[in-house]
Amino acid sequence: MTAAPREHSLREPRKAPEVSFGRMAGPIRIRVAGPGDREDLQAYVRSLSGQSRYNRFLSALPELPASELERFVNASDGTGFTVVASMAIEGRETIVGEARYLFHVDTSSFECGLSIGDPWQQHGIGSTLVRNLEDRAASLGAVCTFGDSLRSNKALIGFARKCGYAVLASPIGVQLVRFKKRIDGLGEPAGSATELRGRTVRLR
Ligand SMILES: CC(C)(COP(=O)(O)OP(=O)(O)OC[C@H]1O[C@@H](n2cnc3c(N)ncnc32)[C@H](O)[C@@H]1OP(=O)(O)O)[C@@H](O)C(=O)NCCC(=O)NCCS
Repeated sequence: MTAAPREHSLREPRKAPEVSFGRMAGPIRIRVAGPGDREDLQAYVRSLSGQSRYNRFLSALPELPASELERFVNASDGTGFTVVASMAIEGRETIVGEARYLFHVDTSSFECGLSIGDPWQQHGIGSTLVRNLEDRAASLGAVCTFGDSLRSNKALIGFARKCGYAVLASPIGVQLVRFKKRIDGLGEPAGSATELRGRTVRLR
């Protein structure tokens, strides 16, 4: 039986910033974003290429709308939070990636979306963020992590596969794929696997 998620624990990572190492020259710091990150996070989103922003937010927005920015920098009680990856660039701690997580208590699953700044892609930061997510999700009692991405986003599909995710049809749109991984070592989530089995997309 799966342990009930401990909602109060969603704030736990705030108290325990972690240091991880990607394949970059310097250390990558991964931590939960807070209100003090408002400006730096917005600057990071603006700095993304149009293609990366579109792939991340499924929209051509030039920056995060004010209401969305507030959600990104304020961990909500029991449901969502943002993690940022930063590194020292010319002596200044700079955000080079972000991941937003939503905890679906009803399915004990974590939904995620992430981006890495264009100059820092393909250096191992995305996979470091995803491993960090899976650790956090497992510690909160989640059984599965998933997200939706454009079917045309070949980088994400390659990335998801490399990180051990199944790439499936998305239940929320034909232009999307759903990447999904069971993180408790018990195989595919029973209900979801049945729902999606006949609609698995085989992408090469
Ligand atoms: C998808 C994304 C998050 C990957 O992050 P990343 O830091 O570049 O990924 P990593 O360097 O950790 O790559 C890990 C593996 O993913 C795969 N991968 C990464 N980028 C890839 C690309 N452009 N094409 C094909 N495979 C790719 C590779 O297998 C890679 O392993 P390898 O380097 O040993 O070959 C990044 O490309 C990105 O931010 N894209 C724009 C935003 C976006 O699409 N977000 C997803 C919406 S949820």
